[in-house]
Amino acid sequence: MINAAQVRELFEELLERISDTQLQEQVVDTWVDACREGGWDELEAVERMPFSLLTDCGGVGFIEHILAVTWGALGLAEAQERACRDLPYKINHDHLIAGALLHDVGKLIEIESDSRGGYRTSHSGRYLRHPISGTVLAARAGLPDEVLNIIACHSREGDGSPKVVETILIHQADFASFDPLRMKADGTLIGGE
Ligand SMILES: [Fe+2]
Repeated sequence: MINAAQVRELFEELLERISDTQLQEQVVDTWVDACREGGWDELEAVERMPFSLLTDCGGVGFIEHILAVTWGALGLAEAQERACRDLPYKINHDHLIAGALLHDVGKLIEIESDSRGGYRTSHSGRYLRHPISGTVLAARAGLPDEVLNIIACHSREGDGSPKVVETILIHQADFASFDPLRMKADGTLIGGE
């Protein structure tokens, strides 16, 4: 079983940037819960799992994607805060980091091993995509509505829905990670060799 200490170690540098220690705990609890529900017993298997079944991820693993999206969303937030003297909205960094670390946590129950070295959509995943299952897991751990909005609305489920600004930043960081791989796979990514 994957425990809280392992999850803490995995995301240590980012978790420490969350000033609210209860929020830190809730993020870790949600991850532990998701690993248990998804039947992921070893961290190495979670690290090997592709972050999407929608394209060839080119070797970019699930944890690498979570880290890239979280650092990316933080970078977008810091760029706006640095560039704009009077940003007309506040960006909550605690919510941004917690939401980014949890945006794809539902994939731990949406994706499963096919026992032949590959991966497939689970029974549960065919009924509820990860933004919905991830929101349920996070709500169970007591995450606030502001973070639930991020998980629920970061992908196409959020199209046209009201969003907190942190959801918008994470959405952009998420697709900055996904789109080059999708385009590389379908031959529309130019250069980058
Ligand atoms: Fe993602």
